[in-house]
Amino acid sequence: MIRREIDSDASAVRSVHLAAFPGDGEAGLVDALRENRHLSVSIVAEENAGIVGHIAFSPVTVDGLDVAAVGLAPVAVLPEFQRQGIGSELIRAGLAACREAGFRIVVVLGEPGFYQRFGFQPAHLFGLGNEYQVRDEFMVLELKPGSLNGIRGLVRYGDEFSSL
Ligand SMILES: CC(C)(COP(=O)(O)OP(=O)(O)OC[C@H]1O[C@@H](n2cnc3c(N)ncnc32)[C@H](O)[C@@H]1OP(=O)(O)O)[C@@H](O)C(=O)NCCC(=O)NCCS
Repeated sequence: MIRREIDSDASAVRSVHLAAFPGDGEAGLVDALRENRHLSVSIVAEENAGIVGHIAFSPVTVDGLDVAAVGLAPVAVLPEFQRQGIGSELIRAGLAACREAGFRIVVVLGEPGFYQRFGFQPAHLFGLGNEYQVRDEFMVLELKPGSLNGIRGLVRYGDEFSSL
């Protein structure tokens, strides 16, 4: 089942990120975003055993402006549940929830081969830069056609990301 995160999910969500990533940076990031009320969209995947996956979206600015844009990060699935389509379901459900919430643009930093299947394109094609000295791995998706018209510049994630 794919559903919105509720308050009591926090520690299970933390466990998913601790198991999926090599360090505790992503788990701490999600906790900090939640504490600062910067989790714009937060969705979990639940199996009988409990929560097995999680995806977060938080606000980003473009050229210092609020343009109804969010960053997808992090997304994780427990190792023993990976490669079964759960991550893809989380991404699709997350993008739909962002669209419903009125966001217009989503950025992500990740594997182009994975994210292009959801419609992400290299952000540099649209004149969008990033803080991480990467090129093709930084991608963007318009949730509504034309959302990127007239929008270019440096995309910045929230301060919570500086500790990653
Ligand atoms: C990335 C992640 C969330 C994907 O979850 P998942 O449930 O395994 O994803 P899916 O089963 O939906 O995978 C769908 C497809 O993407 C591919 N894929 C999964 N992870 C991939 C990756 N990191 N790079 C390239 N392709 C990947 C799978 O092979 C699969 O392809 P297929 O359907 O053609 O076989 C999961 O592997 C994970 O938690 N990884 C560790 C944390 C991480 O790196 N998160 C992403 C950065 S924020």
